[in-house]
Amino acid sequence: MANEAATWIGTALVRGFQQAFGGEPRLFRAPGRVNLIGEHTDYNEGFVLPAALDLAVWTAVVPRVDRRVRVGSLALDATFEFDLDDPSPSAVGNWSDYVRGVAIVLTCSGHRLMGADLMIGGDLPKGAGLSASAALEVSVGYALLAASGLEIDPIALAKACYRAENDFVGARCGIMDQFISCCAVKGSVLLLDCRSLEARPIVIEPSVRLMVCDTMIRHELASSEYNLRRADCERAVTLLSGAMRGVTALRDVTPAELARHAALLPEQTFRRARHVVEENARTLRAASALEAGDVAECGRLMNSSHASLRDDFEVSCPELDVMVELALRLPGVYGCRMMGGGFGGCTINLVQAQTVEHFARTVRDGYKSATGIAPAIFCCIPGAGAGPVYP
Ligand code: GLA
Repeated sequence: MANEAATWIGTALVRGFQQAFGGEPRLFRAPGRVNLIGEHTDYNEGFVLPAALDLAVWTAVVPRVDRRVRVGSLALDATFEFDLDDPSPSAVGNWSDYVRGVAIVLTCSGHRLMGADLMIGGDLPKGAGLSASAALEVSVGYALLAASGLEIDPIALAKACYRAENDFVGARCGIMDQFISCCAVKGSVLLLDCRSLEARPIVIEPSVRLMVCDTMIRHELASSEYNLRRADCERAVTLLSGAMRGVTALRDVTPAELARHAALLPEQTFRRARHVVEENARTLRAASALEAGDVAECGRLMNSSHASLRDDFEVSCPELDVMVELALRLPGVYGCRMMGGGFGGCTINLVQAQTVEHFARTVRDGYKSATGIAPAIFCCIPGAGAGPVYP
């Protein structure tokens, strides 16, 4: 195992596994993610620019001869079990749904899974908007397939996990989180086309760092508001498709076309759509800017993304805005914005490498004195996608 943290996680996981089930488990991991730009575009079949974190969900696994799946969690000190042949499985509304959903989707799509004992651990914080649920799905999916001796196609696994979350768990997310957790490329962000699932890695140059600032705000309303935003986007597509041929998603609409057809949409629906179509355009420009070495332009586009998420899409919150404003005042910050679904969680900041210590100290102090909350601030080192750790 590569470093101290990994050794620590692996040791704890094997010990936990052996206490619960006994035996010599194999270990798999799937990372969480950051997203440089392209927010609320994935479920509109648009573009995103994510990278994997070096923080991950880990799964220890030993196959069983029967069809039972027994699951334990180190962090939650909880266990549950189910049968792969259960004819009418239903979601219960907690973390077990992610595990079970993946097993069901893989089984329904023709994978002959073996029963298994699983223990879950890792170092990815939950609820921080770093995609812990997608990482849990992918790490479990990887472990179940590998333990059953089945081949693993990372894109097929991402799609299965996406379906598990949409169809079994009931969260109508896009595919960004599952895709990057499966297919990330070390040292790079991926420009992902969420319609074709074509992805192009773009190397992050060593003179910049991706800094993550966690507001520590966790809003219950995030998932209900998320589904409302999706519905707004679908309404916009329905109204626009009457006048524009071939429009099946906001991906098919340019900012100029939207402006031309503005009168078709109620004011709020128009602003939601404007965020998405402009964010798609910004994401493509940011990718080109990074490829051309123009980090400053990428930063400016991130700043516009934040303003659009705050004012048009209305998914920011006061603490995210404070975190962004503090960062923007600092030398060496190219750009920053809220990241993920919104209403709390983290900001992503593109920062000159030699200024990161000053950045972290100043933002931490400023945020603490503005809100009374101590934030978590760390550097994202873009890592590889899901895979085996041991053996
Ligand atoms: C959450 C979802 C993603 C994506 C982002 C917003 O992280 O899981 O699919 O929609 O929000 O960009």
